[in-house]
Amino acid sequence: MLYRWKVRSLKVPRLNLLWRRWRARRGDILGSYDRLPEYIRRHAPGHSFADVGCMWGVNGEYAFLAEEAGATRVAAVDVFGPTPEFEEKRRARGSRVEFILGDITRLETLDRIGETDVVFCAGVLYHHPSPFDLLVALRRICRQTLILRTSTIPEVRGLPNAAVYFPMLDARGRELWNLKPLGLLHQAGITGEFQPADGYGNWFWGLTPSCLESLLKTAGFRVEFRATEAFAQTCVCTAVAPALHHELPDELTARRLAAEISAAGIARPA
Ligand SMILES: C[S@@+](CC[C@H](N)C(=O)[O-])C[C@H]1O[C@@H](n2cnc3c(N)ncnc32)[C@H](O)[C@@H]1O
Repeated sequence: MLYRWKVRSLKVPRLNLLWRRWRARRGDILGSYDRLPEYIRRHAPGHSFADVGCMWGVNGEYAFLAEEAGATRVAAVDVFGPTPEFEEKRRARGSRVEFILGDITRLETLDRIGETDVVFCAGVLYHHPSPFDLLVALRRICRQTLILRTSTIPEVRGLPNAAVYFPMLDARGRELWNLKPLGLLHQAGITGEFQPADGYGNWFWGLTPSCLESLLKTAGFRVEFRATEAFAQTCVCTAVAPALHHELPDELTARRLAAEISAAGIARPA
């Protein structure tokens, strides 16, 4: 109940602004979508760069920005496009940005992108039904730095790592997450019902900031910097541990392991 009240309050622009001022006074770093170019200009020069989810509404703008800032090789990746605007910008600038049509959670897309120093991914994570798989995919291509921006939900006091799965919520359940008062006109799967045919267009997960950080850490990233907003986070991370990979044993090894476990009597029904 108290949490619903908190979320509703943060959706009121004036209260949201007061919240930002309060958090800034507490010493937190406040984020905003407009600061993305700043992070790209800081990290891209002299490095290879991939913009994952580069197209919708921005037509590869962040990929071109990275190139302009001095990135060596730039890949712009998306599940649709390229748009005519992207093609026109590419032509007008004499750009070498390479468009890759592909789903970042598919192996063949990772192979086409290859290892990249700096991976930028904004506005994609909450559009995927399996955010951990998406982060592991980003880790597989990321050699050094991940710049990640994503929608989040406010922290749930006393319940760290909480998250909300949006599909199948009824109209009342969805209404809480509708950010129209803050200027978001359409959120597929929230403004209206979840539409399977819209695929990744739907909003799937409302992760709390703590849940996002834990997912990033388990996927092999160290969070160096996080700029917070009531309904979004921007993180700059360093690739540290290898991406999580559960090794499937060959049939002989699997059989031997199974025999050892049975002999030890350590497997009990959960
Ligand atoms: C909300 S838009 C964000 C666009 C831009 N990055 C920004 O921050 O303004 C999400 C973009 O990610 C793309 N996308 C969604 N899921 C994807 C996936 N699994 N692999 C690659 N691109 C994806 C969408 O097609 C869309 O262009």
